[in-house]
Amino acid sequence: MDTHSIVQELIALLGQESVLTKKEDLICYSFDGTASLKCMPLAVVFPTTTQEVSVTIQLASKHQVGISTRGSGTGLSGGSVPAENSIVIATGRMNRILEYDQENLTLLVEPGLVTNRISETVEADGLFYPPDPSSMKVSTIGGNVANNSGGLRGLKYGVTRDYIMGLEVVLANGEIAWLGSKCVKDVAGYSLKDLFIGSEGTLGIITKVLLKLIPKPEARKTLLALYDSMDDAAATVSKIISSKIIPCTLEFIDQYTLQCVEDFAQIGLPTDCGAVLLMETDGFPAQVESETEQMKSIALEMRAREVRIAATKEEGVALATARRSAFAAVARIRPTTILEDVTVPRDKLVEMTQFVRETAARHNVRIANYGHFGDGNLHPTILADERDEEEMKRVHHAMDDLITKTIELKGTITGEHGIGLAKKKYLKEQFQDHSYELLKLVKRSFDPNNLLNPGKIFDA
Ligand code: LAC
Ligand code: ZN
Repeated sequence: MDTHSIVQELIALLGQESVLTKKEDLICYSFDGTASLKCMPLAVVFPTTTQEVSVTIQLASKHQVGISTRGSGTGLSGGSVPAENSIVIATGRMNRILEYDQENLTLLVEPGLVTNRISETVEADGLFYPPDPSSMKVSTIGGNVANNSGGLRGLKYGVTRDYIMGLEVVLANGEIAWLGSKCVKDVAGYSLKDLFIGSEGTLGIITKVLLKLIPKPEARKTLLALYDSMDDAAATVSKIISSKIIPCTLEFIDQYTLQCVEDFAQIGLPTDCGAVLLMETDGFPAQVESETEQMKSIALEMRAREVRIAATKEEGVALATARRSAFAAVARIRPTTILEDVTVPRDKLVEMTQFVRETAARHNVRIANYGHFGDGNLHPTILADERDEEEMKRVHHAMDDLITKTIELKGTITGEHGIGLAKKKYLKEQFQDHSYELLKLVKRSFDPNNLLNPGKIFDA
């Protein structure tokens, strides 16, 4: 590979100010939010238009160099860790809002837009973009689409996929394709847009995103239920769901996470609780009042020690923010934070949370557990030190056990963070039949030379 001439060509195409090549500049693009994974790229480019993305891909294709796309690098499965000597397309300068269509309730944006900006843009007009990954103040919409990110409101409102009406993508040969439309119903051809959502940069580069907006709920209430036992918290979730209440948020944190969160955010929670449930309901005021009362009495019936109802919107936001800070809070404890994303059918929550506890004890590892109980999506987070080989062996055994149990319960190895590099060794265990080959067939059809985010999801 003639790296010198590739770099010179990149500079000629995009301009010196849009290309980084010095080692010290590249270091912070060599990793993302995932522990223990890093790899140096050849160069990082900052395109500002679809056309610049297209010419970058054509150049990469000519030289057979890999391309990895990156938003803010908050990913938790190593999806934006570059392949060795690849070109990183950083989308940060493609961050414009291109069209706000209040008649069709859509917003057309560029991939580098920070997700939180979407709500900030539309909320004053009484509109709402529900997907709210914990990272939303930092992560970008392009990254959210590439991973089909979830969030705290998934239970009622679904995930990123449910709000994507169209995508512009640049394909492996540099061609530009528009997928989807502003039509609420559209069944013309295969749903190619859906193939790109969650494809982790392996099929094409997303350059525009057409988002669906919905009316903003008029009222919202936030509740916090404190329990002595995690099993009672899990049973509350099952009872709420089977009572046919679908709150927008049903989140949990275990005792250890609670201690870390309290230490970090200091919101005045008793740290001797075995578990805390964060519940939110939104909608018409009368419905919100009634659901609040019902959820409170179910929680008390399931032996909650106490149920707190936020008196004001600000108090509600503070409680939800405490839950959102769980990852940051637990990550302060040990040098290495390994976050799982296992998801099980909701009737298996009690069994799975017990299994997480037993696994921590069996392998003598520290696991903080929290996540999206209402979605069956858990984030058992192993706190370790990667310099300690003996400890890391135990950590890997614990991770293997969590994955095996998840698959045994007919769950999925990732609910919202993606496969990336971190989970690819487990993917075949979940896709045990011909479906694994189908994944590879899709990849080969779109990217026959394996240039787009090579090595992610599987080895093509
Ligand atoms: C959360 C992220 C880690 O749920 O997915 O906080
Ligand atoms: Zn999560």
